[in-house]
Amino acid sequence: MHGDGHIETVQRDVADLKDSFGRTVNNLRISVTDRCNFRCRYCMPEEGMQWMARSELLSFEELTRLSRIFASLGVKHIRLTGGEPLMRKDLHVLVKQISGVPGIQDIAMTTNGYFLAEQAADLVRAGLHRINISLDSLDPVKFTEMTRRDHFHRVWEGIEAVDRLGIRPIKLNVVLIRGMNEDEIPKFADLARSRSFVIRFIEFMPIGSDDGWSPEKVVTGKEIIVGMEKAVGKRLKPVEMRGAQPADRFVFEDGIGEIGLISSVSEPFCSHCNRVRLTSDGKLRTCLFSLVETDLKSLLRGNADDEAIRTAIVEAVWKKEEGHLINRPGFVRPARSMSQIGG
Ligand code: 5AD
Ligand code: SF4
Repeated sequence: MHGDGHIETVQRDVADLKDSFGRTVNNLRISVTDRCNFRCRYCMPEEGMQWMARSELLSFEELTRLSRIFASLGVKHIRLTGGEPLMRKDLHVLVKQISGVPGIQDIAMTTNGYFLAEQAADLVRAGLHRINISLDSLDPVKFTEMTRRDHFHRVWEGIEAVDRLGIRPIKLNVVLIRGMNEDEIPKFADLARSRSFVIRFIEFMPIGSDDGWSPEKVVTGKEIIVGMEKAVGKRLKPVEMRGAQPADRFVFEDGIGEIGLISSVSEPFCSHCNRVRLTSDGKLRTCLFSLVETDLKSLLRGNADDEAIRTAIVEAVWKKEEGHLINRPGFVRPARSMSQIGG
């Protein structure tokens, strides 16, 4: 007979990553590169981006080792981000390696879509489960204004390629900036109703933006709902939530078309946040808006064993910030942009 002691040991084999506010982290976002071939206005300036030296970026082997360690601590969901993750050559090789890590239940990617038409099939074959594609405008001219690249048609081909592969859900990320693209709410409503895409509106956040963030430029989730209902002439109904998803999900009352709202600015979801981020140079950030980082790369390259890395992660997560302070006086912007942190 085994006593309670035995059960306790078994439970500790896969420890939970807990923070001091009672949240459990099971979601890791890995930025694989800070480089990008787009220059979205809310993310980076037109000129003068300084990229990290390639030797600073974690190798696929280092990323797979960290994924194993995070999985042993209870992380189940991994999302690959950038910069633009597909700037990393042969990213499907990393997807394949991570999909072999015990405990990882799904691998997702956030991409600008530029390389998808040619790479989607390899990625899905390697084990990519879910994909989010940035698409801030349905008008090629406006798209070029938002991203500073004339690539609307190429991105659209990428979206069609993913659609043909049958991978679901396909989420299209839209950042609305007042005075730029908020007039496209009706067009996005039509798209949500005519194709099986989830349109996700992410509130414009004060991070790395070149375009002068101000509270007035944020088009809030509430405004979007009103605009969509008006455009379609039908009510949006909330979808039952499972778990700690940052998106509020809605469908139109006739059931056709799904909308997600990530109202990080107007209605922060910090109290349910279950994620941490790894920058492309191997720093662990426990919040998008963290002002401190934990240097896992130095541990990896300083021959630390798995246990030492695990301890560093556990200690960092325990200190996870209660929440961001965007709406409070004294808010301090992190020095890194989204492309350097991972979206
Ligand atoms: N505000 C909101 N979302 C942003 N993203 C990047 N910068 C910002 C910002 N300042 C998001 C975009 C993109 C993803 C990679 O990161 O939605 O789809
Ligand atoms: Fe590149 Fe994404 Fe930033 Fe746009 S939002 S510049 S696609 S990293």
